[in-house]
Amino acid sequence: MFTINENYLKLPGSYLFSDIAKKIAAYQKENPEKEIIRLGIGDVTQPLAPAIIEALHGAVEEMAHAETFHGYAPDKGYVFLREAIAKNDYQDRSCDIDPEEIFVSDGAKCDSGNIQEILGLDNKIAVCDPVYPVYVDTNVMAGRTGNYNKTTQNFDGMIYMPCTAENNFAPEFPKETPDVIYLCFPNNPTGSTISKEQLQGWVDYANKNGSLIIYDAAYEAYITEEDVPHSIYECEGAKTCAIELRSFSKNAGFTGVRLGFAVVPKDLKSGGVSLNDLWARRHGTKYNGAPYIVQKAGAAVYTEAGKAQVKEQVAYYMRNAHTIYNGLKDAGYTVSGGVNAPYVWLKTPGNQTSWEFFDTLLHEVNVVGTPGSGFGACGEGYFRLSAFGTYENTIEAIKRITKM
Ligand code: MLT
Repeated sequence: MFTINENYLKLPGSYLFSDIAKKIAAYQKENPEKEIIRLGIGDVTQPLAPAIIEALHGAVEEMAHAETFHGYAPDKGYVFLREAIAKNDYQDRSCDIDPEEIFVSDGAKCDSGNIQEILGLDNKIAVCDPVYPVYVDTNVMAGRTGNYNKTTQNFDGMIYMPCTAENNFAPEFPKETPDVIYLCFPNNPTGSTISKEQLQGWVDYANKNGSLIIYDAAYEAYITEEDVPHSIYECEGAKTCAIELRSFSKNAGFTGVRLGFAVVPKDLKSGGVSLNDLWARRHGTKYNGAPYIVQKAGAAVYTEAGKAQVKEQVAYYMRNAHTIYNGLKDAGYTVSGGVNAPYVWLKTPGNQTSWEFFDTLLHEVNVVGTPGSGFGACGEGYFRLSAFGTYENTIEAIKRITKM
């Protein structure tokens, strides 16, 4: 008789954004006439930039002819894309990353979930609290976290690093030394960032303790301040302790197209075993590559026209972030984030729990956000609003919320 992976039974509820989608669908079914504004999941609303569309059309045309048709992509991704990434995202920022250290994928969510597969089950994992739920849930599924503790609303075998208003939503070194540390900056969900000096502190800490940092930089395009690092490889010594994950979803609107990449440096080793080799083995066995047309679209992001157009889109969403931040602040809300990130993190008014405020907003003004407690126990009493809506909807949402 077959059995199941019982670790799945340790997971409380469904995936956060699936829960929210179900609640919205139920409300809309009861109230079909209501116009709901969705600032919950960080899904983009602007169409793909013209340079990207042009590249997609060109690649589709290539696929129509025997001479230019493409079948399976190379394991790590096409060289034209990996070279463009290495040059523009790393070498131009004085980060010494080689195309051979880059693995193209169908997005940072999958990479952040899959990467733990090359790590031992005995690793002790540290995450920020609140945190993007994929890091925790995938380690639960693998059996690395122990049981869920209803009282603490945490997993007994995980290390949680509280990110609260008191520490500017930046984690501190935990009491117990972790083997693996997940960091995400600019942060999802709080929109906070850390300085280069602070990140260097984490790199030094990891190298000293033999820990691995999994650095999710999916939101780096939203950095506006000088001293905020775009890549962990801006820090000295990061190549011996860090994997970096990047996405085309947020900077170039690929949420429905799917493209991302992981950087696994050749210098990153455990007991003499190269993590680059392990990830190459895993990638080659389990993945057949992002489609050629999508990788061509990704390469268009790095052309002069593509760069200018995606910069404009990022500015469009950041105008939304400022609208949310300033509108709520002026109305007396306690807000943070929104300066180097497309998320605004606010304190729920009147001591409402995160889910109570979610219901208030949905039922009273038909605006959807994400309850902070969905990201972890320290997110209770907070709420996340996404800047990825349209400008018009963002203005309308803030008008509705501030009139409540
Ligand atoms: C979010 O809303 O946190 C993100 O859009 C989710 C994701 O990128 O998977």
